[in-house]
Amino acid sequence: MYNLLKGKRGIIFGALDENSIAWKTAERVHAEGGTFVLTNAPIAMRMGKINELAEKTGSEIIPADATSIEDLDNLVTKAQEILGGKLDFVLHSIGMSINVRKKRHYTDQNYDFTHKGWDVSAVSFHKVMQTLYKQDAMNEWGSIVALTYMAAQRSFPDYNDMADNKAYLESIARSFGYFFGADKKVRVNTISQSPTPTTAGSGVKGFDGFISYAEKMSPLGNATAQDCADYTVSLFSDLTRKVTMQNLFHDGGFSNVGVSNAVMEKFMEE
Ligand SMILES: NC(=O)c1ccc[n+]([C@@H]2O[C@H](COP(=O)([O-])OP(=O)(O)OC[C@H]3O[C@@H](n4cnc5c(N)ncnc54)[C@H](O)[C@@H]3O)[C@@H](O)[C@H]2O)c1
Repeated sequence: MYNLLKGKRGIIFGALDENSIAWKTAERVHAEGGTFVLTNAPIAMRMGKINELAEKTGSEIIPADATSIEDLDNLVTKAQEILGGKLDFVLHSIGMSINVRKKRHYTDQNYDFTHKGWDVSAVSFHKVMQTLYKQDAMNEWGSIVALTYMAAQRSFPDYNDMADNKAYLESIARSFGYFFGADKKVRVNTISQSPTPTTAGSGVKGFDGFISYAEKMSPLGNATAQDCADYTVSLFSDLTRKVTMQNLFHDGGFSNVGVSNAVMEKFMEE
């Protein structure tokens, strides 16, 4: 390890179990010397194993529903008290679609589900940043990262309304990134991650076939949750201070490949 985050403080949203991208990131941030508060929705705490992670990383847990301004206000205030100062990094690793969960087709959405999924998966990022901004809770040259998926740019039929949520999320990163940069010298980016076997990922119909397809399409193979943790650490570190308002593909090259030989071979089979 390189002590890349020594002395830095932050909040990590979304560690549900050891497969979660946020879980791997928390472990990696800890190894790099960063300290943080862990948070998740109160309901997820009951199902999840977040206590294990808190113990391992010497972190405290503050429950917060990322759609509730009241919860977020409390979280950001308490995190600064616990950690002893303003924050240097925040990871938004939150996604959920009720239409996906209840197997509603994209052409047959229940709009109450759509609205809830949009609030949890996209608007929550605005709510998190607005809370940080209003409390002036970020140190200069701090870094805020959210996780996204390429269905924001290209259609993946079974990704359903999450595609629209991700497009909205990425737009929020640019719009808020402007103000956070100009007013507070804080960077805001999204990482567009390969399909990854987690609770949220595996909920998407046809996930197993899709992850193998992406693996064969990507010259470097799929980026794992561990790889994503490494990349996120680089964005939290001082080595990427002028990177902001970007959607950064972290996918082994998938997004720039038309077709790969490995995929062609499958179609050439007798
Ligand atoms: N797994 C993939 O294939 C993949 C690919 C690209 C991007 N992503 C994104 O990565 C992020 C993390 O997902 P993951 O794959 O690690 O799955 P995960 O299921 O482990 O994490 C999703 C998290 O969102 C939390 N959450 C849901 N509703 C919430 C709420 N109201 N308030 C606070 N937290 C809430 C869940 O409790 C859970 O911890 C998501 O934004 C997801 O869309 C995942």
